[in-house]
Amino acid sequence: MSPDSKPFTRAQLLAAPRQILREGRWANARVVKATIGGADWTVKDFGPRGWWVRNLFGRWLLRRELRALRRLAGVDGVPAQPFRLDAHAIAARYVPGVTLDRAPREQMNEAFFLALEALFRQVHARGLVHLDSRGSSNLLATPQGRPAVIDFQAALRTALLPPPLRRLLEAVDMGGVYKNWLRHAPESLDAGRRALYERSTRLRRLWVGRGYFGVRKERQRGQRS
Ligand SMILES: Nc1ncnc2c1ncn2[C@@H]1O[C@H](COP(=O)(O)OP(=O)(O)O)[C@@H](O)[C@H]1O
Ligand SMILES: [Mg+2]
Repeated sequence: MSPDSKPFTRAQLLAAPRQILREGRWANARVVKATIGGADWTVKDFGPRGWWVRNLFGRWLLRRELRALRRLAGVDGVPAQPFRLDAHAIAARYVPGVTLDRAPREQMNEAFFLALEALFRQVHARGLVHLDSRGSSNLLATPQGRPAVIDFQAALRTALLPPPLRRLLEAVDMGGVYKNWLRHAPESLDAGRRALYERSTRLRRLWVGRGYFGVRKERQRGQRS
């Protein structure tokens, strides 16, 4: 697709049937789903935000996410056909699916999580880390039972990083995958991956500084049972 041939314009978006997926707060994009030309799209829009957020922070975040999505073109399980709608919004194809908490339990099996792991390996092979894989809202199960990952706002290019740092950040992504694996299909998570998960959690504590005072531990224990 050439940069000047956009699948739709903001005027078309405003005329289309649409639904707010996430209103977002003052520093987040509003996320909208719209049906245009027979296809479902999601639009991340900083248009409704204040001037500073919209014109500085917002543009910067959108540019980063769009670059990441373009790098992932052709990977099955990430939003396809990303493009810049205008200065304050990007759009990409809507990924049909539900978050893992809402997916049919029988779909949350070893095969699913192996495919999710393979999906993150593909992301890493394209020279990116996602860095927001721990929470479940960015991981989806499609109606066909395939994994998908959305929200590349925090993604980072790894090409220019020192290899040990790159491996560390990739391990953080995998830690998020294994965290969800442990939550939804613990019996199939082998000891090796479990150890990697625990290592990534310790690493994360070092830099996020959470997890002390036992708060986080308690929560995780609750989720496992
Ligand atoms: N391409 C997409 N396909 C399907 N759902 C999406 C897509 N993009 C966003 N969503 C939905 O909108 C929500 C918010 O979008 P997200 O990109 O995660 O924004 P945020 O930066 O606010 O977390 C997601 O949790 C998901 O439910
Ligand atoms: Mg998100």
